[in-house]
Amino acid sequence: MLKGRDIISINELTVDEIKEIFKTADKMLEVLKEGGSDVLKGFVMATAFFEPSTRTRLSFQTAMVRLGGNYIDLAEISRSSLAKGENFADTIRMLDSYADVIIVRHKIEGAARFAAEIAESPVINAGDGMRHHPTQALIDLYTIRRSFGSIDDLTIGVLGDLKYGRAATSFIYGVTKFNPRKLHLISPESLRIRLEVREHLASRGIEFVEESDLEKVLPKLDVLYVTRIQKERFPDPAEYEKVKGSYKITRRVLEKAKENLIILHPLPRVEEISLDVDGTPYAKYFEQAKYGVPVRMALLKLILKG
Ligand code: NCD
Repeated sequence: MLKGRDIISINELTVDEIKEIFKTADKMLEVLKEGGSDVLKGFVMATAFFEPSTRTRLSFQTAMVRLGGNYIDLAEISRSSLAKGENFADTIRMLDSYADVIIVRHKIEGAARFAAEIAESPVINAGDGMRHHPTQALIDLYTIRRSFGSIDDLTIGVLGDLKYGRAATSFIYGVTKFNPRKLHLISPESLRIRLEVREHLASRGIEFVEESDLEKVLPKLDVLYVTRIQKERFPDPAEYEKVKGSYKITRRVLEKAKENLIILHPLPRVEEISLDVDGTPYAKYFEQAKYGVPVRMALLKLILKG
């Protein structure tokens, strides 16, 4: 089903494909306990990150190595021929001739799709501007499934930068594949979801409400997905100054939470979750980051070998 496929947006995956990825990820957790396998021996993955990354790049590389494959990394732009003015398309063409799968992150929306049109090898989008981050959404949904056994019938809050955040946007798209009870989209007025996301939610018949006050809605939530305000994507720095620090989740705020609430965050966090929340049972964001490896192992295995 997934063999040879490009993964540009979570919207392109069916629920059955997502479930297949999750089942494979469950198996990968077992594989990891045994130290890995050599199912992707002989395969090469290229990572081409034109924007900063810690978790996404390193967990893709870890996933490949744990499955017996290898990777090549474009490294910083200053160390590659991009610094000599080589264009993106030529760079992708070269990587295509060296690798069996290409992982691309870029600040420009549509860059991963463009790479997929050029390359014969499958391309996985590791984040394009404010638009899509499909593998992050898979990890987020997988973490919910591991915590609750299912993604259906949950009341889910998404907090922070819903306008510029690709992780928030992809998570919302991903959730619409399932049957949440209700979505609470919590953000400052100026960082509401974009029109295309609002239309997508409406077309899927998902019940959602847009609001600003976290403390009011918190007691209703089963899942709280927190995101960073995307400073680097604001066209006007003055606009960022107005909304920075809008939310801060502390132990005190969580006094009103449901007992089983889980808090997710794609990370990096800046100041939206206070460090003293890390030790509470609500904090699932480090576990979520850990699932980056088995989920990406599953995806690489299914794309490269079926
Ligand atoms: C996110 C991203 O790059 O979009 N990080 C990640 O991949 N885990 C979130 C962010 O930068 O805020």
